[in-house]
Amino acid sequence: MTLGVLRLSINKSEHEVPLKLDIPDNIAAITPYPPGKPIDELEREYGISGSIKLASNENPWGPSPAVRAALREEIVNLNRYPDGSCYYLTKAIAEKTGVDPAELVLGNGSNEVIEFLVKAFVREGDEVVTSHPSFLMYQKFVQVRGGTNRVVPLSGLRHDLDVIYKTISKKTRLIFIDNPNNPTGTIIEAADLNVFLKRVPESVIVVLDEAYVDYIDKDFQVDPCSLIRNRSGCCPIVLLRTFSKAYGLSGLRVGYGIMTKEVASCLHKVRQPFNINRMAQAGALAALADEDFYMQTLSYTRSGLDFLSGEVGKIGCISYPSQTNYFLIDVKGDADLLYQKMLHKGVIIRSMSSYGFPTFIRVTVGTKEENSRFLDALKNCLDGLGYV
Ligand SMILES: Cc1ncc(COP(=O)(O)O)c(C=O)c1O
Repeated sequence: MTLGVLRLSINKSEHEVPLKLDIPDNIAAITPYPPGKPIDELEREYGISGSIKLASNENPWGPSPAVRAALREEIVNLNRYPDGSCYYLTKAIAEKTGVDPAELVLGNGSNEVIEFLVKAFVREGDEVVTSHPSFLMYQKFVQVRGGTNRVVPLSGLRHDLDVIYKTISKKTRLIFIDNPNNPTGTIIEAADLNVFLKRVPESVIVVLDEAYVDYIDKDFQVDPCSLIRNRSGCCPIVLLRTFSKAYGLSGLRVGYGIMTKEVASCLHKVRQPFNINRMAQAGALAALADEDFYMQTLSYTRSGLDFLSGEVGKIGCISYPSQTNYFLIDVKGDADLLYQKMLHKGVIIRSMSSYGFPTFIRVTVGTKEENSRFLDALKNCLDGLGYV
């Protein structure tokens, strides 16, 4: 419990009135998501300009021209509430993924679908299994709900399915697995995943977060229908996807989950009626239709990843294979220090020290120019620090 002090002005004289804010322990224990500074502010602070951000796994080529046009057209309708059922966007996603519209739930980013899942299925004291490191928001939503996080360390940069299975208890409601994993970029082999999914009890929902599914090799791609349907006697599966990555719409906030109609109907009960705004619906619909932009993004990302991994190896660092638009690099020295040095050169990357990898950085594939700039800055900083 935290004691706040409220300053009230009564009869023109000031009195300090102690305000007993009764903050629940689970909320008091949460560390807020650290808000990054706007790039303009950062540049002012560091006295730099033209900096590049390779820290949040965004698409450097987006949004597509088709999205820009759709948004311009939609602006005139902003005096009206959006379509609460997202009829057209849901229909388009259903056609693209081969599922039924009733098997989809859209969210303000896939983040919101994660929140719906926790709201709908986790009671106080229930358990949720996640990996560490993995996407941070799973654990946060569980904390807000008063649930208990059971956290399983990655093993060799991969989800440890065996230990995850052994961590399941009678109180387990959900298992979150980001596949590919953020931050490592590793993916689970289909055969291993199938064995795991067969073992999980039917009272536990397995959420496979596929935020980066667009980037993965074709060999790993699985038909969503075959995963979510015909699972009588087995655990239900939810797949999470997003428009924030390959479709280049991080700023619009659209994601979705693919699940059985029964699970979907539970999530609809906990969502606000207009959770996807008009611009987001129009933009995502246009993005889905722009196949050329999407394919170009995938091809540029793949060649950028190959190029960067090769070059990083040449300067003595170790790069780790990834099925995404980012990858890990072992810089063989203090990653926090390198992050600071790179920042001064206007190159924003992510240090992995707080994720338990003190000598690793995570870098998102950028445009050709951004990749070259990153490499120049990296070489220069590594020389200065004497790491390799
Ligand atoms: C694994 C993973 N899941 C979900 C998200 C959230 O995506 P969205 O922008 O759709 O909320 C991210 C974002 O970085 C992510 O890395």
